[in-house]
Amino acid sequence: MRKHVVAGNWKMNNDIPQTEALIQDLKRHAKTSEVEVMIAPSATNLWHASELLKGSDIEVIAQNMHFAENGAFTGEISASMLKSVGVKTVILGHSERRAYYNETDKSLSKKVNSALDNGMTIVFCFGEELQDRKADMHQSVVKDQIQSALFHLDASAFKNIILAYEPVWAIGTGETASPDQAQEMHHFIRNTLVNQYNQSVADDVSILYGGSVKPSNAKEIFSKQDVDGGLIGGAALNAEDFFAIVNAISSASNFPLEFNAIS
Ligand code: PGA
Repeated sequence: MRKHVVAGNWKMNNDIPQTEALIQDLKRHAKTSEVEVMIAPSATNLWHASELLKGSDIEVIAQNMHFAENGAFTGEISASMLKSVGVKTVILGHSERRAYYNETDKSLSKKVNSALDNGMTIVFCFGEELQDRKADMHQSVVKDQIQSALFHLDASAFKNIILAYEPVWAIGTGETASPDQAQEMHHFIRNTLVNQYNQSVADDVSILYGGSVKPSNAKEIFSKQDVDGGLIGGAALNAEDFFAIVNAISSASNFPLEFNAIS
């Protein structure tokens, strides 16, 4: 059965004192719930954040990693290094990494393999640009991204993969996909998984929506049948907003999850 997940992507924000302050705040707002809550601070803060959150239900995850185990890759961090600071989950394929650091589906598939070989869980991001949507190519672009980076995997690998649909035009812009646009894409993704794998892979994988999710729009988006949570950028930097989004899942109408077989 798939899980509800809300992950906060802090991006390049918060030094150590700011990380400590935000984590204290997050602890104050956290309530036990069935939602898996994750935060992704920058690499320099992972160890400290993990220590501060030991024993809590908030998981510390990484924003990126390199595909190699070690070697001459100045400035990079490997899966085993992440594990050595207590991190077991990594975000891969964020659109900012694709746009500014030339991450391609090919390099991402190597990162995917390395993360899985190291027993890690992946939050795999993908999404179309505005011009793709305008040209009505959004579904084929998303299908290509998933196919190129993930479809070499066995069905069993999807136990350790969380998908995050993030339309690029909605990230940090204040513009969100409408709940119906999100639902349509999430349903399409599940159908794509049925066709490539089987119904249970499609039913069991969590698909998050990301792109300008805020306390004011979270409940409506999360109430959609195929939306299992969110990847949150800006609103994850404020503990009250972040937990308002987490709590929006519990109050959304599809909770607890019930699945309709995909036709
Ligand atoms: P945003 O970012 O919530 O600020 O739009 C989402 C993301 O980049 O994951």
